[in-house]
Parts: sequence; structure tokens; C-alpha cells
Amino acid sequence: MYKQIKLQEHHIIAGIDSLSVFQALFDSGDYENRSFFILVDENTEKLCLNKLKQYIPAGKKTPVISIPAGEQNKTMETAEKIWQFLTLHHADRGSVLINLGGGVTTDIGGFAASAYKRGISFINIPTSLMGMVDAAIGGKTGVNFNGLKNIVGVFSQPDSIYIFPGFLETLPEQELKSGYAEIVKYALINENNLWEVMKNKRINDFDTLEDLIAFSVLIKAEIVEQDPEEVGIRKTLNFGHTFGHALESFWHKNERAISHGAAIAAGMICESYLSSKINNLTDEALKDIQTTINKNYSWPSLRKEDIPELIHIMLNDKKNQNAKVNCSLLEEPGQCRYDQLIPEELLKEALNHFINEQTNNQ
Ligand SMILES: NC(=O)c1ccc[n+]([C@@H]2O[C@H](COP(=O)([O-])OP(=O)(O)OC[C@H]3O[C@@H](n4cnc5c(N)ncnc54)[C@H](O)[C@@H]3O)[C@@H](O)[C@H]2O)c1
Repeated sequence: MYKQIKLQEHHIIAGIDSLSVFQALFDSGDYENRSFFILVDENTEKLCLNKLKQYIPAGKKTPVISIPAGEQNKTMETAEKIWQFLTLHHADRGSVLINLGGGVTTDIGGFAASAYKRGISFINIPTSLMGMVDAAIGGKTGVNFNGLKNIVGVFSQPDSIYIFPGFLETLPEQELKSGYAEIVKYALINENNLWEVMKNKRINDFDTLEDLIAFSVLIKAEIVEQDPEEVGIRKTLNFGHTFGHALESFWHKNERAISHGAAIAAGMICESYLSSKINNLTDEALKDIQTTINKNYSWPSLRKEDIPELIHIMLNDKKNQNAKVNCSLLEEPGQCRYDQLIPEELLKEALNHFINEQTNNQ
């Protein structure tokens, strides 16, 4: 697999040869005489950095900025450490930051680069499945603040994105499943045959994920190209995310942390239920979606008493309009409609449905 996708003036290069294309960048006129920095987290420093260094010309200095791993470190404090490192090493406006890691690294690295000296170039090299199919693409950068996810950030596009599936060899299974949830989402929101391929399958049923990655990258790139700042069709990418983000925050707060993707998978069950109530998604489609997701994910317990707190979290979602919770919902697999305002009663009903589903499946 080798694919090159041009997104406005930015490039996405996906496939086993992508790092060779990355290597060629150092000889290109655009990057001559510029200083490079590499941002890693503690895991990608150990497991991915050496693989990347083979593609950096010998003698080229690339100071490494290492940050602690994990969502809890996607903070202003970590961004400050990056800025401290860059100033200490005299990074100038021509410098380039290479973000080598999962979504946390590319989100915070993109943000730090975009604010440093009013913006320096950055390049994303995602190493997690979540990063490859979603986080590294599309120019959303930022950090969490005051307990709220992604609340401080900017839209800023990387110069280019190199997607090398070989990095996934060391990714823990739970993290693979996390990224897989976003692939399921692409299959459900975009008109293509992907849902027919993924329906009722487990992630382990696929010998390789390379084709699914290429498909996902293409779908995300096309959508972002049409609507880079999320005023229209890009909102369809939020399917599953209103409930998913609320569940993720709730479980984190109650020390039952789960991956971002597992939370989104739970969110897709709730929002598919809403789709059946509001958009007449058929019972058969709802059943297929639930079966597929239940085959791949399990979640910490959720009780009916937890519903008011979840509703409270959703009422603070940044996508809301006029104090109403705003979702992107399915009309059928492959057709998604955005800006659907949901009455509070239906939010409760969808959470009750999820709780009952999980009880019945035990
Ligand atoms: N900007 C966007 O459009 C966008 C989209 C989706 C998600 N996100 C954000 O991305 C984050 C989630 O991304 P993530 O799941 O990649 O999180 P992550 O960056 O925390 O990576 C998950 C874990 O895998 C480790 N890891 C990464 N690559 C590895 C490899 N090759 N081998 C071994 N370990 C590896 C990381 O160190 C980390 O421990 C969230 O903060 C989410 O908000 C952003």
C-alpha cells in the first residue's frame, strides 16, 4: 500500500514507503538549512524513535523533546515544557517540529508549534492507530484545560503527515482497538462499502489493517478538505462523540479510565439508538451496529444513578447550540446528518438503552 493524498497544500503520505518519502524531504529545497526538533512521548521514544532515525540523514542534528505519555499530560504545563526546550535550543521561525506519537503527541505538538513565535512548521508522524486514521489529520490541535477536553487549541495544518503502519507492531492491543472505533465510525458516516466489510467483524478478523487505514485516511482527508473549520460536513465526524466524550470524562473522573476509542464506541451505541428514534434508522441496522461494537469492546459498569451526571457533562459540550445538546446522527449506515438538537428526555432514554443493553449482554 502506498498512497499520497494532497489536502490543499498539505500532503498525507500513507504506506510502507512513507518513511522513504519522509527521508527525501531533507534534500528538498523547502527544508534546506532549517533546524528540526522531534517530539516524542516516553513510549514512542523507546519504541519508535530509532525506527524513524534510520530515515534522517547522518549528521543532521534533531534534538529530541520527550514528554510523559498519556491523556493526563495533554496540558498547558507540557506545552510550556516544549516551549522552554525550543527557546533553550534557539529554535527560530524556520524551525520544524516533527511530532512522533499518538494523538496526544500530535495534538500538543501541533498546538505548541502553532503558538511558538506565532507559528512554526510541524510534521505529524502518527504511531498509534488513532493517530493514523484520525488525530494526526485535519489540523485540530490543542490541550485539555480545567478538566475540560481539548478546550484550548487552534486549527493549524501540519506541513505533511507520514503514515507508516509498521509502527503499529508495538502498539498494545487495547490501543489498536481504540483506533479501530474511529474506523467503524468512518464506515457508518460515509457512503462507501466499508460498513459491509466491517459489519459483524472483530478487529482480529482482519489479517492486516493497512487497507482500512488507507480508506479511513481518504475519508477524513476528503471531509476536512471540504470543511476545514467544521462549519458543516466535518461535523459528521462527531458521530458517537457527544455521548462518547461524556462517558470518557465520567469514567476517567471515577477512576475507571478507558481508551478514547472505547468511549466513542459506547457513544456510537447511544447515538445509533437516538438515530433510530429521530431519523428512523432501521431496527436491523441498529442491531448490526450494536453487535459489531459489542464484539470488540467492553466497558466499566454504568448505573442508572449515573445518568444525571452524564447529562450535566453533555450540557457543557462545546458543540451545543442554545443550551441544547447537538449530535450528528445516522439516517442509515453511510448517511449521517449533523446539527440535530436532542431533547433531554431522549438523552436519558439513550443512556438507559445503553445500560440495559450491557446488562442483557452480560
Ligand atoms: N486532533 C484530532 O482531530 C483528534 C482526533 C482524535 C483524537 N484526538 C486526540 O488523540 C488522543 C488519543 O490518541 P491516542 O489514542 O493515539 O493517544 P496517545 O497518544 O495517548 O497514545 C496511546 C498510548 O499508546 C502509546 N503509543 C503510541 N504509539 C505507540 C507505538 N507505536 N508503540 C507502543 N506504544 C505506542 C502512547 O505512548 C500512549 O501510551 C486524545 O487526546 C484525543 O483527544 C485528536
